[in-house]
Amino acid sequence: MSPKPKLTLRYMQLEDIPQVMAIDRLAFDLPWSQRSYAYEIAESDHSHMVVLELKREIPATGWRRWFGINGKPHLEKWVVGYGGLWNIVGEAHISTIAVHPKARGRGWGEILLAGMVRRSIGLGAEEVVLEVRVSNTRAQNLYRKYDFQRVGIKAQYYRNNNEDAYDMRLRIDNQTICEQFEARYNGLLSQYLFVDLYNTFVPPSH
Ligand SMILES: CC(C)(COP(=O)(O)OP(=O)(O)OC[C@H]1O[C@@H](n2cnc3c(N)ncnc32)[C@H](O)[C@@H]1OP(=O)(O)O)[C@@H](O)C(=O)NCCC(=O)NCCS
Repeated sequence: MSPKPKLTLRYMQLEDIPQVMAIDRLAFDLPWSQRSYAYEIAESDHSHMVVLELKREIPATGWRRWFGINGKPHLEKWVVGYGGLWNIVGEAHISTIAVHPKARGRGWGEILLAGMVRRSIGLGAEEVVLEVRVSNTRAQNLYRKYDFQRVGIKAQYYRNNNEDAYDMRLRIDNQTICEQFEARYNGLLSQYLFVDLYNTFVPPSH
């Protein structure tokens, strides 16, 4: 029997906001507000917010295990990372991406980034763009792994410490690039056995 997928990539929902905000606060100096998330999920026509969810088994504990009542492990769903994408006139803008600190280094940031690039291709964008702090080499490595190029610097872009941002971009406007990306994405799907609802089951408002 083949192993059951434990990871699901899907559109962010209003119920995810508390878990997403908890990661946001751990990951960034300037976290988004609850209102911003609600707007991006439920009101913006341009926004395609994503989460990566892990199903994990929690063993029965305490009196339930002692008395053998409902002693089976139960499944818990945990949002391990999230991302944000705006699609405006042919330009897909990655507005945010983060993985819970306890879940980093397992390829899950890569799934989120690749999932958003694939969504951008599906939306017919010509280019994916993002900004990244010049000090954030970890994220830059991830973007470079996916062939994003540094095309400029936005001076004093971050208002908490006036740090500069690199402007990084990936062209997705020709068939060869899109086919190569698709082959790579299929490799990721078989490596991590995740279910990609983000690209296959799109809510009606998107
Ligand atoms: C950036 C971030 C999303 C990466 O997620 P992650 O799950 O840890 O990364 P992955 O395990 O998927 O790694 C993918 C690639 O990222 C790069 N990377 C990840 N961790 C790294 C590290 N500690 N040092 C250097 N490069 C690293 C590598 O290129 C890696 O590919 P490799 O494993 O083939 O070398 C995560 O570190 C994070 O949430 N950081 C805080 C928020 C943030 O900075 N967001 C970006 C804002 S622009």
